[in-house]
Amino acid sequence: MAQPQQSDRPSKYGMDSVSHDDRCRMVSIAWADGHTSRFPYIWLRHARYFPSLGRPDQAHETDFVLPEEPTTLSVAAIEAGDQSLLVHWKHDGSTTEHLISFLRDNCPSDEARRERQPLPVRWSGADAATFEWFEAADLESPAARLEIFQRVRDKGLALVRNVPTEPGTVMDLAKHFGPVRRTHHGSLFNIRSLPEDRQGVRANIGATASNTLAPHTDEGFRHAPLGIMLFHCLKPDPSGGGVSTFVDGIAAAEDLKHSNPDAFAFLRSTPMVLAAERNKQERFRTRCKLIATDGAGVVRGVRMADRTLPPVDLPVEEIEVAYVALRAFCSELYASYRVFEHLFQPGEMAIFDNQRVLHSRKAFNREAGERHIQQVSIERDEFHNLFRQLAEEMGRFDLANWEPDAGALCQD
Ligand SMILES: [Fe+2]
Repeated sequence: MAQPQQSDRPSKYGMDSVSHDDRCRMVSIAWADGHTSRFPYIWLRHARYFPSLGRPDQAHETDFVLPEEPTTLSVAAIEAGDQSLLVHWKHDGSTTEHLISFLRDNCPSDEARRERQPLPVRWSGADAATFEWFEAADLESPAARLEIFQRVRDKGLALVRNVPTEPGTVMDLAKHFGPVRRTHHGSLFNIRSLPEDRQGVRANIGATASNTLAPHTDEGFRHAPLGIMLFHCLKPDPSGGGVSTFVDGIAAAEDLKHSNPDAFAFLRSTPMVLAAERNKQERFRTRCKLIATDGAGVVRGVRMADRTLPPVDLPVEEIEVAYVALRAFCSELYASYRVFEHLFQPGEMAIFDNQRVLHSRKAFNREAGERHIQQVSIERDEFHNLFRQLAEEMGRFDLANWEPDAGALCQD
């Protein structure tokens, strides 16, 4: 929900007319651009204090006070000013003020609510090969940074080049996108081709091995999986191996909806176990839906990793069904036309949404020399929070007034 913006300026939205109807307890606004908004009286009564936004300048009570019972409300008159509406209530003689911009920014019509929930832009491997790369200098420019935020929101993948190759740089760059998440791996994850006897607890698990990996999302075994990843190449495999791959998991799940509706319905509705018990430091286990959809049935997040999917833990009669569904989903996810391949060079960086985009790398030769990638992750909500703040600071209200989805944690 957009914050009300107090200003001496007239509202950026023009109104043609305002009316109210006590029989259906509704205030209607006809806007100059042809849009119509209808606000139930009860919504306006709640909005008078904006209590859920917790603004320090708003009146508040000791206890959370919900508005009155809806059928008791009635309106005597409404006055429209440049910036706000004054609603004079008949049932208790009070007057409430409502900023016009707040009303329009939070219009509850189906159309306006849809517009505030932007749809993912799906892509194939060939599409991703045409994505424009950003420059490291863009990260210092608020306008360009806004484009990076938007690219990650809409496509889940932004590519950046000419990033300094000083180890630790990715930690500095992350500050533009939110605080770095700390896990049992620490904050900065080094993906480094070390001799096996120096790999410690990470020996030969996933990223630290040198074999080809299947496309996967990272650490879906957490209740809240890792969010936005910054993947920074310092040194590629000198022999040319270790090609990185990315797959749009949302596109795959949306296609599964049509290619195998039963599999899609099963995976979006049946929580399954993901777990990691690869060494003494890991006893992770969660139960989650591998395809997360929102209330409109739109796929907003996926989780998939062959290496952290244990034998299915479901009622016996559902086990075969689960494997059939998994097979169908994997055949969509791993279809070759979905895969974007790129051999990252020193100073190249991918910023991707780990709750949407699967990644992997092909085998490389550990004996050929050091391959070194550094990676950090940022919570998706922190990322979206900075995105919306920046948009608001820059007066880009088209990018400030939207509702972030919860990714792999979406509930329908
Ligand atoms: Fe990974």
